[in-house]
Amino acid sequence: MFELKSGLKDRTTSRAYPADEQGTALNQHFWMPFSANRDFRANPRMIAGAEGRYYIDDQGRKLFDSLSGLWTCGAGHNREEIQKAVAAQLGTLDFAPGFQIGHPLAFKLAEKVASLTPAGLDHVFFTNSGSEAADTSVKMAKAYWRLKGKPEKTRMIGRAKGYHGVNIGGTSLGGIGGNRKHYGQLMDVTHLPIRCKRAMPILVAKRKPALSWPMRCWIKLPCTMRRPLPP
Ligand SMILES: Cc1ncc(COP(=O)(O)O)c(C=O)c1O
Repeated sequence: MFELKSGLKDRTTSRAYPADEQGTALNQHFWMPFSANRDFRANPRMIAGAEGRYYIDDQGRKLFDSLSGLWTCGAGHNREEIQKAVAAQLGTLDFAPGFQIGHPLAFKLAEKVASLTPAGLDHVFFTNSGSEAADTSVKMAKAYWRLKGKPEKTRMIGRAKGYHGVNIGGTSLGGIGGNRKHYGQLMDVTHLPIRCKRAMPILVAKRKPALSWPMRCWIKLPCTMRRPLPP
């Protein structure tokens, strides 16, 4: 059971939460991610709907959605053609498992993605989020080296200030200290500073003898998020 800091529980339960448009008190059960929960309840910013590039808040105000719904609604909110396509699909098949049985549309989408990616990136593995994709790529990189007979190659590299989502792999690989500080060493990851971004590939290509430590790490370390290094 998660324990609240002493006194916090009393303060939060005794707070008179504002009500939404249905008159329901904003309760404390929804634990909001990446949000200062207590502050939010003191000063809630609620949305009621969306259209095109805008959210509509509970006061009826339009708010420009500069993040496209956290990067999920790039085509705009509530597009009629998307609503129709989703409704048509729901009326035909609401969910198609990918374990042991398949649906033609998943194959068709994989083919489309492969046609857009550079040559050699021809296999598509679908996940439900960026965080899940990050963890899956960690698993793939580790499995690759095990199959190559080098199970000891387990260390990963990430970049300072990098963000790879909220799961164990993405949290470990991410280089935002505040996102990792409560969890200790979740995975064996070395974070390279951002300043060597341009120099790194050039130095590695030339195999310069006197490399600084990030460069030596780059050559020595076994796994990267993008692809495994050559043996
Ligand atoms: C590079 C990268 N990896 C992972 C994620 C996490 O994606 P999600 O929020 O879908 O889990 C993000 C999200 O911004 C991202 O930019």
